[in-house]
Amino acid sequence: MIKDIRQSETDHTEKHSLQNVPAKRGIRMRKLCAGVLTGLAALWPLHASAAHAAETGASKPLIVYFSHSGNTRAVAELIHKRVGGDLLELKTTHAYPSEYKATTEQAKKELNDNFRPQLANDIDNLDSYDVIFIGYPTWWGTMPMALFTFLEKHDLSGKTIVPFCTHGGSGFGRGKEDIARLCPNAKMLEGLSVRGSNAADAGDDVDEWLRDIGMSK
Ligand SMILES: Cc1cc2nc3c(=O)[nH]c(=O)nc-3n(C[C@H](O)[C@H](O)[C@H](O)COP(=O)(O)O)c2cc1C
Repeated sequence: MIKDIRQSETDHTEKHSLQNVPAKRGIRMRKLCAGVLTGLAALWPLHASAAHAAETGASKPLIVYFSHSGNTRAVAELIHKRVGGDLLELKTTHAYPSEYKATTEQAKKELNDNFRPQLANDIDNLDSYDVIFIGYPTWWGTMPMALFTFLEKHDLSGKTIVPFCTHGGSGFGRGKEDIARLCPNAKMLEGLSVRGSNAADAGDDVDEWLRDIGMSK
């Protein structure tokens, strides 16, 4: 007859209850250790993000971006939902046309003229952020000139820059190189580029990317 091991253990415990006092203590100890380990495991994500914060010296992140037709704003908001911090949508004092072709012409002229648009808004406490997400729609193979204005105005030395963009097919273009040139003493993490048409549904891509670069909460 095959003996039920569970039954046999029960029998053993019942029959030799006095002899098993140390064994019961052992079980209690094991349960206690398991509880402590479970507690530590539950704290691990917190510990990991705290370690990351310590590594980057991070406070809350800043997400600064420009968006003309809303795609980059949609990605910025997805990031914000996940990492928290502050959002700053840069605006220029001059308007861009609502019509697509007219906007491309104005943007092309600004690029060719190496124009620096005046910003209608800005931030005066950049020092309080260690991690700065920088987002833009790719315009003529790089960032809109408003981003050049912003990055030339602020010293991002020692900051961790996390670039993201939306585009119609050419990805970041030269934008990341331009950011690196304008912020030579900043550290840049791997960025995320999203097709404009996918911007609103990019939640999973944003999740995966933030995990990969260690920015998940
Ligand atoms: C002025 C202008 C220039 C553009 N140039 C490019 C480009 O060089 N490469 C590209 O892939 N997409 C280009 N696009 C498409 C935009 O990058 C894309 O639609 C983006 O998602 C728009 O983002 P937004 O809605 O945040 O403004 C251009 C769009 C505009 C309006």
